[in-house]
Amino acid sequence: MNEPDYKPKILIIDDEQSVLNSLNRTLRHDFDVLLSLSGNAGLQILREQEISVILADQRMPNMTGVEFFQKAQTIQPDVERILITGNSDIEAVIDAINKGNIVYYVHKPWEPDALRIIVKRAADHYRLVQENRSLVSKLQQANKTLQNENTLYNQELQKHYQFDQIIGKSPAMEAVFNLMRKVIPTDATVLLQGETGTGKELVARAIHFNGPRKKKPFVTQNCAALPDTLLESTLFGHKKGAFTDAVANKKGLFELADGGTIFLDEVADMSPAMQQRLLRVLQEGEIQPLGSEKIKTVDVRVISATHHTLTDDVKTGNFREDLFYRLNVFPVTLPALHNRREDIPRLVHHFVKKSALRMGKNISTVSNESLARVVNMDFPGNIRELENIIERAVVLAEDNSVLSFRDDETPTSHILLPTDSTETTKLSDLTNNIEKQYIKKTLVSCKGNISKTAKVLGLSRAGLYKKMKRLDLVSG
Ligand SMILES: Nc1ncnc2c1ncn2[C@@H]1O[C@H](COP(=O)(O)OP(=O)(O)OP(=O)(O)O)[C@@H](O)[C@H]1O
Ligand SMILES: [Mg+2]
Repeated sequence: MNEPDYKPKILIIDDEQSVLNSLNRTLRHDFDVLLSLSGNAGLQILREQEISVILADQRMPNMTGVEFFQKAQTIQPDVERILITGNSDIEAVIDAINKGNIVYYVHKPWEPDALRIIVKRAADHYRLVQENRSLVSKLQQANKTLQNENTLYNQELQKHYQFDQIIGKSPAMEAVFNLMRKVIPTDATVLLQGETGTGKELVARAIHFNGPRKKKPFVTQNCAALPDTLLESTLFGHKKGAFTDAVANKKGLFELADGGTIFLDEVADMSPAMQQRLLRVLQEGEIQPLGSEKIKTVDVRVISATHHTLTDDVKTGNFREDLFYRLNVFPVTLPALHNRREDIPRLVHHFVKKSALRMGKNISTVSNESLARVVNMDFPGNIRELENIIERAVVLAEDNSVLSFRDDETPTSHILLPTDSTETTKLSDLTNNIEKQYIKKTLVSCKGNISKTAKVLGLSRAGLYKKMKRLDLVSG
């Protein structure tokens, strides 16, 4: 930018010393003036210094002004070029202007004030061009950085959903991987079943992000989270005015996922009415936004998941059999963690590495004693529970230490029974006490997240809340 005492550098070329002196007097106040008596000497200066504006006389013995400018442009293409001319030079001037060799011309004799203004304008123009160039190059650089970051981010994202992020070498997990490899290149509808925290969503993402639809959207919806109308409008969209809060048209997830994948989580928890609507969409491959006459065709791969055993729900009449067959085209059941304990050490190391990296701690090993304890624990919350335990231990661990857990950091397996059980302890007090401890510890391991805690404990969110109220764990 312009500093207060910054003077643009200009170069004046004329074969007459008196003309040079005169121009110098006119301009030296505002510019840093360099003088040259010949074209060749002028070119030498241009090779050595950055010049904003050149003034050259057209009539010089060895090189005309216009010839000089032609050469000058090969050295400094942006330099502003002002030609000083006499009456008889007019043809040369017109030609030079048309060819773009000069930017201004000044007629002899010149008016000093007018000349200063012309040179100033030229110098300003030069500065703007340079600033613009530097901005453009900075912008290009920033764009490039952004692109690199984007590529990195995408690689990260890809990496995140690569198979090697799904830990498991047990036969049960090998079977899952084999099924995944088979179904990934297809469009088949996948049903993922397995207890809470066994990795259903992780597998759903891996199927999408490793398959042919990976460049298209992956959208997810928890079907247990919303009441019917809202779920319907979220999935299929609505027209303005379709219901009280529908203040504008809204696209549904099926439309947004066009070409990609929709992940319907907790699909067993849909109401019978919603089950019927979903069935129709899957049968027809068409959606009809709420309140709309228009029917839209969509191309969406459906992956659904539930921690229920869906065949049981079909037997009890809680889940439509026809919808079950639509969803269950390619079933994959994820094993509970206690059925693949041999994977636990590997999972522990994976989560230690992941948590330590995120928290910037240098922890790479776990004490054998802790590992043995973890391998033998129960995990009603499966891998999510294990992940939470490790994360908490890493939070508490000193940097550069060997990770170990105390009993009270493995929340769900160590329930303290009162050692001095007297005859006056009623069974109900005892169970209340156990329940209370169990809930408290699970709450801690789930970082106070009620929904997660409820899942780990195998309760509904409302059920857990009711229990917590009864046990005085919440006020109100
Ligand atoms: N095999 C695995 N290897 C590594 N991490 C895993 C594995 N399985 C699950 N996880 C991790 O455990 C956590 C829970 O997994 P996820 O959310 O996929 O479970 P889920 O089956 O969908 O559970 P829910 O039924 O409760 O929704 C996630 O953080 C996930 O990354
Ligand atoms: Mg899930």
